[in-house]
Amino acid sequence: MGESLRGRQRELALLEAFLGRSAVEGGALLLTGEPGMGKTALLQKAADRAEQDGSRVFRTAGSAVESISFSALAPIAMPLIPDDDVLSAAHREALFVALGLADGRPPRPATVSQAVLTLLRTASHSGPVLVVVDDLQWLDPFSAEVLRFAARRVSGSRVGLLAASRTPAGGLGGAPSHNLAALDREGAKALLAERFPALAPRVRQRLLDEARGNPLALLELPIALSSRQLALQDLPAVLPLSDRLQGIFAARITLLPQATQDLLLLAALDSTGDLRVLSAAAADPVVDGLAPAERAGIIRIDDENHRLAFRHPLTRSAVAGLSTAASRRPAHQSLARALSGHPEQRARHLSASTDRPDEGVAAQLEQCARHMAHRGNAAGAITALTQAADLSPAPDDCGRRLAEAAYISSDLTWQLPQGMTPPGTGPGTAGALHLAAATAATAVINGTRDMNTIHRHLVTEIDTHTGTGGSSEEGLIAAATQLVTMTMFAERPELWTPCRAVLDRLGPRLPQALRLQAALQGDPVREALPLLPELDAAIASLHAETDPDVLLRIPAAATYVDRLPACRDVIRRQASGPPEATASTRRILAQLYLSLDAFGAGTWEEARLTAQQCLAACGRAEGRSFAQVAKYHIALLAAATGDAATTTAMARELKSWGTARGARLVRSLARHAEALAAAGRGDFDAAYRDAAAISPPGTFAPHAPTALWVCLELVEGAVATGRHEAARAHADAMLRYRLPEFSPRLALVSYGCAAMASGDDEEAIRLFERALSVPQADCWPFDHARVRLAYGRRLRRASCRPESRAQSQAALATFETLDARPWAARAARELRAAAPGGRMPTAGRDLTGPGALTRHELEIAQLAAGGHTNKQIGERLHLSPRTVSTHLYRIFPKLGITSRAALRDALTGEPPSGDAR
Ligand SMILES: Nc1ncnc2c1ncn2[C@@H]1O[C@H](COP(=O)(O)OP(=O)(O)O)[C@@H](O)[C@H]1O
Ligand SMILES: [Mg+2]
Repeated sequence: MGESLRGRQRELALLEAFLGRSAVEGGALLLTGEPGMGKTALLQKAADRAEQDGSRVFRTAGSAVESISFSALAPIAMPLIPDDDVLSAAHREALFVALGLADGRPPRPATVSQAVLTLLRTASHSGPVLVVVDDLQWLDPFSAEVLRFAARRVSGSRVGLLAASRTPAGGLGGAPSHNLAALDREGAKALLAERFPALAPRVRQRLLDEARGNPLALLELPIALSSRQLALQDLPAVLPLSDRLQGIFAARITLLPQATQDLLLLAALDSTGDLRVLSAAAADPVVDGLAPAERAGIIRIDDENHRLAFRHPLTRSAVAGLSTAASRRPAHQSLARALSGHPEQRARHLSASTDRPDEGVAAQLEQCARHMAHRGNAAGAITALTQAADLSPAPDDCGRRLAEAAYISSDLTWQLPQGMTPPGTGPGTAGALHLAAATAATAVINGTRDMNTIHRHLVTEIDTHTGTGGSSEEGLIAAATQLVTMTMFAERPELWTPCRAVLDRLGPRLPQALRLQAALQGDPVREALPLLPELDAAIASLHAETDPDVLLRIPAAATYVDRLPACRDVIRRQASGPPEATASTRRILAQLYLSLDAFGAGTWEEARLTAQQCLAACGRAEGRSFAQVAKYHIALLAAATGDAATTTAMARELKSWGTARGARLVRSLARHAEALAAAGRGDFDAAYRDAAAISPPGTFAPHAPTALWVCLELVEGAVATGRHEAARAHADAMLRYRLPEFSPRLALVSYGCAAMASGDDEEAIRLFERALSVPQADCWPFDHARVRLAYGRRLRRASCRPESRAQSQAALATFETLDARPWAARAARELRAAAPGGRMPTAGRDLTGPGALTRHELEIAQLAAGGHTNKQIGERLHLSPRTVSTHLYRIFPKLGITSRAALRDALTGEPPSGDAR
């Protein structure tokens, strides 16, 4: 491991061996040593090395300035929260309270310990994990207890725990420890020569004696020496080194003018390192005021870039150590004022600026929380709101803030904090809105069955508050957001009507993204067209957007009008960002959009992997609603690739979930997958029926947006089963609603459907050509190839064989690339039929025309071709099985076939699969 540390070969070898071992069988190690001995430097080396070797590294450290209970656990546990379904409810709750993600009684450290250990062990299943803890001596006692507990139990798990501490006291759960001794004379000389090559030999000698092999002293003393050599010579030589070093730092500070010391305290408490922040916080000009500190080598000032840095963290903690709580409070107040653009920092200073209830501070903290939430920092927002609640003098304000924290945390944790009925959240209070929103959010996520009740409750709460202004605005939006999501799942007019009424009443108070989502997911066929320019503009500015709500609501609005490709980069960022940056719900939603988009774009492997990831991320709770959408994507992919068993199994699960919860959307999604599978295997009757069940032919039912996804199934199915009226009516409706103007995909599909439904060959050919030449329509390769296949078939039947072959050939190539097996087989059959001399059992024949099958016969033939037995056909058509067989007996000769097996090919006009020509 690296060469830049002098005289530490032994330690580096020791760490290397530890990393190697702990990556295989787990283990813990404690480094101890006086300040400045190089503990932090060695931890850094080890962390870098482990990361290079592919370990997942989590780093945390104790802090001399603040020690909130359990705070050191956040950097370790937060990134693992998305895997928290491995935790028991009790462990989960304890952990969430400890991390400030949920409200509740202070958890027992033992329970939190178990939770953290479980998360770490689980994480190590997919690769070695290293936890690095610096300044263990400053850890809050609870975090320390948790980490010691973990240290005792990581063996056998591929989790390594490496900590550093000034004192061996407390140890690390009995783990072996190594004390960092001073550098030997050679190492010390080398370090000094490297960093201060120009020192006079006498001074060098003096320094080596003074520093006694402490690297920090070797690096720091020359700086002090250069300005006050004499002062240094005055130091008593008998002090132990750590005290001496700290004494040096503190002494250097107390020698400075009071004004400089005050500025240094501001600088020590501020963590931005930005001179402009200090200028705003301080009464006097800072650069002049800080000059003595700079001359003393305590800080470095970079005027040009407005940066200020302490030369060593020790100085910073020495400055803080010299202050009192009472002197820090006004400093925090000034910094909070100065940091108006930094909600995270501002909140930290605000909460440290008072120790008693203060509505002014609480209100400002609440503002910070809003900013953080809008920038995607849910955890920060929750902490700030909880602190604001603690500082609220009035119970109503306290309750409202806790309820808002609960709402934000429901997105992160998928549950309501236990016992969540704080004062100030009763009906009619401002807190009630957020509480209703939080309840709805968790109900939707978890697939609760009593959605109707929750829907009603939401509508009532919103109505109660719509008239009142001000403080409940955020709550109103939260509740409206959840109402839209819930209604979208239900897809029932009796829920959409009150939902629309509520949204209308909110009018301009409704954020743009939510308004677009409600319209474009609610009833895209009727509402999309005039909104598309606005949607496109919103999508164009998404890359600069930080509000997590907008980042997800705009892609939601984009879904049915085929604009997910335009949102792809933004979605991808959210789906794959570091876990701590994106709350789990948002990451999963982004993954769902990604997988749907990948299906459309024909990158099916990505679609499948993403959908499976989603399903896994939903955890063991099968009922979660995201899991249903992921299953739908898996069912769709299975249908397209010819895995009938998977489609059937998934569709069955979706239907039963949807039925139990009155979620018509989910039932429609199941039908889409089934219709696609049926079309693939040539069961056009089933394809038609499934598609028509979503919305009847010739109509686009309000609030049934999935109808936009099954147009091909419906029209192709109708044509193939002799339902020409229905086919034409649907194709007309598509044009009447101007779907071609919605998107290239819908233009392709609309003209394609119009072509299929047309009885006139010339018109059909014109329409097919128009469909296939829509710019960018081939960005949806599967749909594109399906239209081509239909075109090829039509051309063959119009006796244009070479042209027909060209279309079918192109379709076949695409289907093969996609691995759309059933369609590849259909295209191959079509090609054979159009080959010179190819057999065309029904070519040119109108199946329902005179001399051919009657409407009734065709229906029976279709059912038989779809694999139904005579008994099943009889049940469906109210005939006896005998009558069915009599009909079939008459049908076979009409179609020129002798067996049931040949029915399907005869009906689709494709030659039998065995036909080699
Ligand atoms: N062996 C070494 N060789 C060179 N520089 C070192 C060595 N050990 C420590 N340092 C430097 O000395 C300073 C103090 O080290 P640090 O790791 O912060 O000490 P600690 O964490 O033990 O207080 C840092 O600037 C560090 O880079
Ligand atoms: Mg250190």
